[in-house]
Parts: sequence; structure tokens; C-alpha cells
Amino acid sequence: MKRSLIDILDFSPDELQELIDTANDIIARPEAYSRLCCGKKLATLFFEPSTRTRLSFEAAMYELGGNVIGFSEAQSSSASKGESVADTAKVISCYADIIAMRHPKEGAPLVAAMNASIPVINAGDGGHNHPTQTLADLLTIYREKGGFENLTVGFCGDLKFGRTVHSLISALSRYPGLKLYLISPEELKLPSYVKKEVLAAKNISYVQTTDLEGVMPELDILYMTRVQRERFFNEEDYLRLKDSYILTPDKLQNARQDLCIMHPLPRVNEISVAIDDDPRACYFKQVLYGKYMRMALILKLLKEAGTL
Ligand code: CP
Repeated sequence: MKRSLIDILDFSPDELQELIDTANDIIARPEAYSRLCCGKKLATLFFEPSTRTRLSFEAAMYELGGNVIGFSEAQSSSASKGESVADTAKVISCYADIIAMRHPKEGAPLVAAMNASIPVINAGDGGHNHPTQTLADLLTIYREKGGFENLTVGFCGDLKFGRTVHSLISALSRYPGLKLYLISPEELKLPSYVKKEVLAAKNISYVQTTDLEGVMPELDILYMTRVQRERFFNEEDYLRLKDSYILTPDKLQNARQDLCIMHPLPRVNEISVAIDDDPRACYFKQVLYGKYMRMALILKLLKEAGTL
């Protein structure tokens, strides 16, 4: 049966563990996976800029022995002539076996999934969700912390528009003992729909604060985020808020020795490059793990669709 990944909650915790196990096996035995997707095609439909997500999907498919078609900007597709997302999905279903789509409009990958005859993966939709970044984040946490229970996680920066934050909070909310610190300026607080539908619904303990250093000693994981310039209506607001939080070595003085510092990247100013050599910096591992989780995801969706 055709299945898509639009929201991280489309997969049960057991299925996420299955993806983690597959990714770990790919890391251990890459050769065993190198021809599994021979003759299969991934279409990367990116209506918004990307470095990591698009290229890691492409690397993932090539490392599985498959091929890739696609576009990297809306202007080079027939969307620029007015073609709908629904029609685009039907058309690409004639050419490819699986789609990864990024779109500035929330819900566009869901519309694609409803109209495609092949699996669709949400590679980021507006300020809404980014489930495959969450897959990268989960593998990072699993490898660094050994599991997902009883974690204290600080999310810092743009919690309003940061789609990676929304998806990761949803994913972690299903594990017991989660405690959250939501660190942001007033204007960039976590949207109330996430607080209501995820945090309140699951009775998750959380504290909203503007004080990063004050909560630092509590954290197992610090998830820094970029202020999402492309989502602002007003450049002045962006300029005022963009440097609200800059993680520098002095701010880690009270942090735990086993703190895991994460960032979905791209980074602008949020983490000083002086932290890159700190053993607690995990953000470049996240990038690499994203490729392995996308390999595991492509395999799972193609198998369930009966394509493999
Ligand atoms: N983390 C992430 O989604 O990066 P890109 O925008 O470069 O894909």
C-alpha cells in the first residue's frame, strides 16, 4: 500500500525505531545497501532553497543505487506557469517511484500526497513541519543519548517559524519523562496550536523563558535555531530579532559535560564557530545522520508501496 511521510506522527514510535535500526545498519554495512534501489527514481521537487535536505536525499538515493530527477527552484518548473501542486504530483507519478517535496506553503506536500500515485515525503512545508529533519535529529539523539526517555531539551531561537522545532517536539512528546525549556524572544514563541495540540494534549512539562544561560545547567540537549528571515513580513522585525541568541563558549560554562548541542542548520550567527570543535557540538553529525535516515526512509516507503 502506498504510504507517505507528511507529519512525523505518521510513523509510530516502533516504526521510527525501525528506521533508526536500519540507518545504524547502513552505517555499519553500507555495501549491503548499495544496489537495493537499482532502476528506481527519486524526484526532488524543491520549490524553496535547500542545501542539506535536497542534496542528502540525492546522496541517499545514489548510495542505494538509484537515480534522481527533479528541480531546485519553483522558477525552473511549470509552477511558474501556474501549474498546481496536485497536477505536478500526478505528472511526476508518471516519471518517478517516490517524491521528496519542499514547498513554502503549509500543506502543499499533503496535497501532493493526495494526488500522487507514488509515496510523497514532506521535505519541509513553510513554517509547519520538517519530518525528515526530525529523523536526522532522532538518530543523533539516539546515538548520543542512547534513547528518548527522561530527556530535558532546550529549544532556543525562532520557535514560531522553526518547522524543525515543531516536528521534533511532536516526535519527542511520545516518550515518557520529557521536559522542555522553550527559550525565545516574546515575538518568536512556540505557536499556541503546538502548545495545545501537542504539549497540553500529552501533558508535557514545559517552561517558557527568554533566559538561555539560566536554564543551561538543566539541559541534556540544546537545540539552537536560526531566525527564519524568509517567514517575516517585515525586515525591521527580522533585523531586531535575528541576533537574540548567540551561543558562545562562555555561555557553556555552566552546561553539562554531556550536553548535546544541536542545530538543523543553516547557521547564521546562532552558534559561534568557536564551538565547532567542542565535543558537545553535534550539528555536523546531524547532517550526516540525515542522509542515513533518508536512505532508511526511501527503502521503507518503496517496500510498503510494493516497488521494491
Ligand atoms: N536543515 C535543513 O532543512 O537545511 P536545508 O534548508 O539546507 O535543506
